[in-house]
Amino acid sequence: MGKCIGVLTAGGDSPGLNAAIRAISKSAFNAFNMQVIGFRDGFRGLMESRTVHLEGEILSGILTLGGTILGTSRDKPHKMPVGSKVQDMTEVMIDNYHRHNLEALVCIGGGGTQKNAFRLAQAGVNVITLPKTIDNDVAMTDITFGFDTALSIATDAIDRLHSTAYSHHRIIVVEIMGHNSGWLGLGAGLAGGADVILIPEIPYDVHQVADAIRRRRHQGKNFSIVAVSEGALAMEDARELARLKEKKQTDRDQKKQHKAAAGLKAFQANHAGNTLRLSAQLEQLTGLESRVTILGHLQRGGTPTAADRILATRLGSACVTAIDARQYGCMVAVKGQSTEVVDLAEVVGKRKVVPIDHPWIKAAMETETCLGDHLR
Ligand code: F6P
Repeated sequence: MGKCIGVLTAGGDSPGLNAAIRAISKSAFNAFNMQVIGFRDGFRGLMESRTVHLEGEILSGILTLGGTILGTSRDKPHKMPVGSKVQDMTEVMIDNYHRHNLEALVCIGGGGTQKNAFRLAQAGVNVITLPKTIDNDVAMTDITFGFDTALSIATDAIDRLHSTAYSHHRIIVVEIMGHNSGWLGLGAGLAGGADVILIPEIPYDVHQVADAIRRRRHQGKNFSIVAVSEGALAMEDARELARLKEKKQTDRDQKKQHKAAAGLKAFQANHAGNTLRLSAQLEQLTGLESRVTILGHLQRGGTPTAADRILATRLGSACVTAIDARQYGCMVAVKGQSTEVVDLAEVVGKRKVVPIDHPWIKAAMETETCLGDHLR
């Protein structure tokens, strides 16, 4: 038998993970005579050396399965809770990597996982990554797998909310995942014909939103669907957040820095109730009854779409080809119809947010969708 590859899935789960695990394992075995072992529960499994051989029966029937057969966690190698302490377990992971005689380690995940994988690469591990997240916000790739499935789930939810909003003459505020980027909120809002779409990239003015709902009312439309990303911010909150971030980063006085950090934490905790507050404000400003639906983790569950299965399979197989060519310290990215290998240094520390001049924004504006700001 040839070389051995390790695989782990980290961060929030995402439809298509099992398709990627299957593609890596099958391509490695069939095309390159390599074996594959999986580590359970992300970087924690690498630290605890909990493995499973990815061959034979275990790969059967997983192409269509949601979640990850390996399990996942948000544990970071350099800040791992162990017992009552948080420790840097990087060296233990490197020892386990060598103990299993691995040629390479494949880390499948979103932005956080890319960062953690990069740290291991800098410590000498032959790392290669795949981009997955329903948020679609990993830098240097056109798309991440999981996004298409979440998009279709959120769109279906908006479709269903339409008929009940219409029947009861209500506003329905639907919260869609995406703390830092609005791909999912904007995409589902557009596809579902939401009347208002609020995303983190465009701070909103609640009065503009209320005006748009009132305008619809004057046109005889007594209901409205407001699609809001969980990270969308009112203009005044966006200003306060920017101020706290700036203070945390730049204040030389340590006491003031700590105060800003605490302020940031309190701000984020308070933001969790944002969608409920927005709904109450809209009810008050428009006189229409308003209800909230938070889609939450429903958007990450269940069977991946055909597009995500194909994408994850393509990326998995391209990843093994890159390993065969000894390309490490990189991510297999999607570029148009093709895949390309990009340096992890180019990926980490960046986030792919929705550009303000993106065609989806233009399309939303031209189809009378309120984006919550003064211009649109
Ligand atoms: O990163 C993907 C994501 O689903 C985000 O959209 C969401 O904000 C977050 O994960 C939720 O994280 P958790 O599963 O840890 O609650």
